[in-house]
Amino acid sequence: MTSDGTPPLQFPEEFFRRVNASPDRFFYEQPRFVQHIDDPTIAALTGLYGEVIPPGSRVLDLMSSWVSHLPTDREYARVAGLGMNAEELTANKQLTEWIVRDLNADPTLPYEDESFDVALCAVSVQYLVQPVPVFAEVGRTLAPGGVFVVSFSHRCFPEKAIEAWRSLAPADLVRLVATYFGLAGHFGEPIFVDRSPEGADPLWCVVSRRE
Ligand SMILES: C[S@@+](CC[C@H](N)C(=O)[O-])C[C@H]1O[C@@H](n2cnc3c(N)ncnc32)[C@H](O)[C@@H]1O
Repeated sequence: MTSDGTPPLQFPEEFFRRVNASPDRFFYEQPRFVQHIDDPTIAALTGLYGEVIPPGSRVLDLMSSWVSHLPTDREYARVAGLGMNAEELTANKQLTEWIVRDLNADPTLPYEDESFDVALCAVSVQYLVQPVPVFAEVGRTLAPGGVFVVSFSHRCFPEKAIEAWRSLAPADLVRLVATYFGLAGHFGEPIFVDRSPEGADPLWCVVSRRE
């Protein structure tokens, strides 16, 4: 029960079901040196990062690959990447450190409390089967006032996306991600930022600060 006596929100069991429910290490065994969104959409994401990531920040790039889309006009104190494929992460020149970790097998993060100023999850949140514990962990590892930017588009690997993601309309995906923030604790009211460029893949972002 919550403090006002109402039952806590429960997602339906089938919400997080996936067509391909085999361990993620099989699907991500082969590196994919591809971009998952159009060039103008990447530029829009880098632009948003430029607005919210001060120089000298300690950055966590969750569900990272061979690219982090960070602005190249500034230095960072630390850029930690967490993803599934070692070859991709090795090739990512923006990372100062990386780790292979399956968040669907273990939603905890191998980082100290309050060790980052910014956390990013680019075009990947649809693959999380335990998103609320992962968001709670991001809250734990962010310093107070730190920001978490969750971005997504209309493209994905359908067999690995959760069932809800495949059936909800974009506005409901935004609400879903905002709900993850709310249930995770730690975070203030999330805001929705639409940076979709004309004629390219959309870019929808939900952003919140650690309280
Ligand atoms: C569509 S790619 C996006 C990669 C990168 N963030 C970008 O913007 O190009 C999805 C990423 O999610 C990561 N990923 C998928 N399932 C994961 C899991 N269970 N645990 C951790 N990372 C995962 C993969 O390693 C892959 O890099």
